[in-house]
Amino acid sequence: MQPTLPNDTLTARAGTPLQGEATVPGDKSISHRSIMLGALAEGETVVQHLLEGEDVLRTIAAFRSMGVEIQRDTAGIYRIQGVGLDGLREPDDVLDMGNSGTAMRLLSGVLASQPFFSVLTGDASLRQRPMKRVITPLSQMGARIISREQGKAPLVIQGTELIPIDYQMPVASAQVKSAVLLAGLNTAGGSAVLEPELSRDHTERMLTAFGAEVTRQGLRVAVDGWPNLLAQTIEVPGDISSAAFPLVAALLVPGSELLLQGVGVNPTRTGLLALLSQMGARIEQRQVRQAGGEPIADLHVSHSSLRGIEVPAELIPRAIDEFPIFCVAAALAEGETRLTGAAELRVKESDRIHAMAVGLQALGVAVTELADGLHIIGNPEGLPGGVTVDSFTDHRIAMSLLVAGLRCREPVVVKRCANIQTSFPSFQPLMSRLGATIV
Ligand code: S3P
Repeated sequence: MQPTLPNDTLTARAGTPLQGEATVPGDKSISHRSIMLGALAEGETVVQHLLEGEDVLRTIAAFRSMGVEIQRDTAGIYRIQGVGLDGLREPDDVLDMGNSGTAMRLLSGVLASQPFFSVLTGDASLRQRPMKRVITPLSQMGARIISREQGKAPLVIQGTELIPIDYQMPVASAQVKSAVLLAGLNTAGGSAVLEPELSRDHTERMLTAFGAEVTRQGLRVAVDGWPNLLAQTIEVPGDISSAAFPLVAALLVPGSELLLQGVGVNPTRTGLLALLSQMGARIEQRQVRQAGGEPIADLHVSHSSLRGIEVPAELIPRAIDEFPIFCVAAALAEGETRLTGAAELRVKESDRIHAMAVGLQALGVAVTELADGLHIIGNPEGLPGGVTVDSFTDHRIAMSLLVAGLRCREPVVVKRCANIQTSFPSFQPLMSRLGATIV
């Protein structure tokens, strides 16, 4: 159990439409990577619009404890004095990655090739998540990693010189891909990963921007060892995974119209936009431009009548973090929605298939939990609500159920919301400013 914090319980109720403009916090995936590559490069990297959520702060703390100077200039602006690929020093204590799977898996890749001892741990959720998926390829590179039973954290890493690998990944995972590529940076020769489907490609893009030799052929991506990584200035795009909450809220609440500015629209991340468009959502990408080597756009969204869909398998990796909020859209759409082939959702910050089935059912939705997904019968008239539901300490479950509460006849109380701080610390004030009643 997480400790109970004062704002650990939030209540959502139906009210006025959402209106206005907002900038969402920086992308979590890109923020982690900017700290890591900034630390491993030579020179001073400046990061703007960094996500100051708990997950990224854990990554910053880990690199600080390995001797990297990281200075906060002002909100979201950080300066990292890179130490180079061989400049990290042994941390004198356990590295606590909190709730962050990205921090733990990517750092495992970095640490496997460093000539020192380190221990990675995390909160109760992270200590239940599968780490074998990174231990297996890193061990094939020669890494020495010990874990609890079934590959669970804490992980003990005795870094050593590695050998390159050409690894075929059993599941599409950007974290596994990134762990191998980061281990490959400090390894002589070329290391490669073959994915079953394309997962988010922020690591590849950012490595290229820092000067590494990255080659992609279809679903295979390779990096050459020992590149000269040169410090960069990175502007982190707004996180589409955070924008998803006000965006779906605006689609669902009659009379709403929002402009979400500077949101990352990397094609490996826009699966939710594609799914919602198939459901009939009115979402426009305006002023598409570049930031930090990534495409960004202003998303204009207005209330829309949605209809249920069958989720196409090829969109699943591109929308992997958005299924909790997608299920809320499905619950308020006309007709049935079927999501299958998404068993990965069971090993996220919570078992998201189970958490959404339980949560939506409590709100009055006709939902069936499947082994690898959910079947939802939507009701565009709104939901009964009037219940207290649990987030299972998962930030995205908490925010999704609160958005659902905006279309319930009676208030919805969501318990254990503290982890919203991991990815979207300004969620509650931002939603309130746009007109949502979440207190
Ligand atoms: C992430 C990859 C995804 C995603 C996670 C962030 C990343 O995980 O769910 O929130 O930053 O690389 P998987 O690699 O396990 O799919």
